[in-house]
Amino acid sequence: MPAAMSCVDALATTHDFHITWRHRDWGSDHYRRHGRMMPIDGIDHLATGDATLLGAVGAPDIPDDVTLWGLLIPIRREFDQYVNLRPIRILPGVSSPLTGVDQLDMVVVRENVEGEYSEIGGRVYRGRPEEAAIQETVFTRTGVRRIAEYAAATAMSRCGHLVSATKSNGIIHTMPFWDEVVAEIAAGTPGLTVEKVLIDALAARLVLKPHSVDVIVASNLFGDILSDLAAAVAGSIGVAPSANLNPPRQHPSMFEPVHGSAPDIAGQGVANPVGSMWAAAMMLEHLGEEAGSAALIAAFEAALHDGVRTRDLGGTASTQQFTQAVLQHCTSPRNPAQPDASHASSGG
Ligand code: IPM
Ligand code: MG
Repeated sequence: MPAAMSCVDALATTHDFHITWRHRDWGSDHYRRHGRMMPIDGIDHLATGDATLLGAVGAPDIPDDVTLWGLLIPIRREFDQYVNLRPIRILPGVSSPLTGVDQLDMVVVRENVEGEYSEIGGRVYRGRPEEAAIQETVFTRTGVRRIAEYAAATAMSRCGHLVSATKSNGIIHTMPFWDEVVAEIAAGTPGLTVEKVLIDALAARLVLKPHSVDVIVASNLFGDILSDLAAAVAGSIGVAPSANLNPPRQHPSMFEPVHGSAPDIAGQGVANPVGSMWAAAMMLEHLGEEAGSAALIAAFEAALHDGVRTRDLGGTASTQQFTQAVLQHCTSPRNPAQPDASHASSGG
């Protein structure tokens, strides 16, 4: 987080905008001290900000459902951040594990507040042979419509092709409903082509023919899985960003790296900050600082292009060394340094 924040601070100077950070040390340490991931009025703290920049959350000694349902997921829901936008590209100096794939540029538009991530359900007869667990998936017309509309608009701003991830051959209530609503939106969007693809086949296609996919619209769970898969195909999930958007702007949106808290390397000063920097760039774009956003993306691309890389990308740079290199590009007179100007957009 400090790496991304220092870049935003540097760009505030060069691009003449003001930013006031309000730090909140919410997370696993907060939980250990107070028994909660965030204070009881945590949402109220965030509600008066313009946006939230969130670090990775979770620790091996605390169950994941506690850390995530105590912080990330309630923020997404309380602020109706129904779009989870995840751009995926092969960055300079990063290579796809697939041969012959040296350029990739796609966007996953993930439904972020309903679907398979639901509190409805329960467990009965715990510990007995007849124990059962039931979890209900909830798709609403409003929920599917608005994510399909957002994805359709995203696709129209790119090449007009949308892939809708489904599983209506196996999941016989919610997924046919998803397909129907997506088809309605498609019919009302002239020039848009929508391809309905079963999630299993789509997973294979992302590996075998990643270039055949540009914008994907997917339910909460499918989008979660596909965004990790696509990021891995693009060379690293360590660099991928995620924007949790409330498009009507009734509430603040939240920006975070896709990667987890990586407890194996935490505190060593070797983490790759690109996921956080890219998330911060999406935040700037959302807040209307398009030039600052593009400059930040160009700066970390330029540092990577120069061969400065953290360990996860095969380099030797520490988080701080990499950040210094990015900061130099953020503030250099050449800025915005753009190794490839056509890629200086994060969507959002
Ligand atoms: C993500 C994460 C979260 C999710 C987890 C940590 C709950 O995997 O943002 O992709 O599934 O939404
Ligand atoms: Mg995930």
